[in-house]
Amino acid sequence: MELQGKVALVTGAAAGLGEAAARKLAEAGATVVVTDIETATGEAVAGSIGGMFVRHDVTSEADWAAALAAVEQRYGRLDVLVNNAGITLMGSIDEMDLAGFRRTLDVDLVGTFIGCKLAIPLMSRSGGGSIVNIASIAGLQASANLVAYNAAKAGVTLMTKSIALHCATTGTRIRVNSVHPGVIRTAMLDKVMAQVPNPQELMEGFVAVHPIGHIGEPDDIAEMVLYLASARSRFVTGAAMVVDGGATS
Ligand SMILES: NC(=O)c1ccc[n+]([C@@H]2O[C@H](COP(=O)([O-])OP(=O)(O)OC[C@H]3O[C@@H](n4cnc5c(N)ncnc54)[C@H](O)[C@@H]3O)[C@@H](O)[C@H]2O)c1
Repeated sequence: MELQGKVALVTGAAAGLGEAAARKLAEAGATVVVTDIETATGEAVAGSIGGMFVRHDVTSEADWAAALAAVEQRYGRLDVLVNNAGITLMGSIDEMDLAGFRRTLDVDLVGTFIGCKLAIPLMSRSGGGSIVNIASIAGLQASANLVAYNAAKAGVTLMTKSIALHCATTGTRIRVNSVHPGVIRTAMLDKVMAQVPNPQELMEGFVAVHPIGHIGEPDDIAEMVLYLASARSRFVTGAAMVVDGGATS
């Protein structure tokens, strides 16, 4: 129960990696605020872990302000923020249109920017804390058919370091790190598979690039989130934590 007394907010926590992180943080004793654009599943996750659900589109500054105000009003503090909500639109520079490129950056990068910007004052008032930005190995290495996602996740990678440096040098006691999953079995993966003509071949390709011999599970990433959220990682900030079965090695 290493997060007893702590309050955490996880975005995109109605499913996938966000849900797994929310459950892991709750198991460790945190009070978890589940946020998502999917109300029914988000409420179900929040209900099952004794937390609060807030409907929240991460691209909306007004939604962020309302979500954080609700957290402060109900719990008086915020110790952990997990910027997890994200989308993947596949496409090369030839295939991707401007609207898809902008949409990907808006959800994956701008949403994380707004979250950090608006949560830092509340976390500072709470005596510090930990921000975990879910990036991807696609933020570290490029694929020809991921032009928008590569741009967004690479942005999250260096933006995380910039915010970490700011927080470390201004006495906020807030640590900021990114997590870089390899391919993980979630609904997002199903959505990616649905965008290609031969999903079976794509899956075989995914497995082949993970030297460990299989793709990951949401809990593999949730364990890293818990470590970064906890005091065990008290000397870790500005780090890009890779959890990818050796894919980028
Ligand atoms: N699954 C993978 O293989 C994988 C690999 C690397 C990184 N990631 C990253 O992990 C994060 C979670 O991915 P996942 O696989 O769990 O995806 P998912 O699609 O299963 O779940 C994402 C959740 O985010 C929510 N969401 C989408 N847009 C939103 C918005 N504008 N505001 C608020 N919530 C929104 C969705 O409703 C959904 O509940 C993403 O940032 C993704 O880029 C996933």
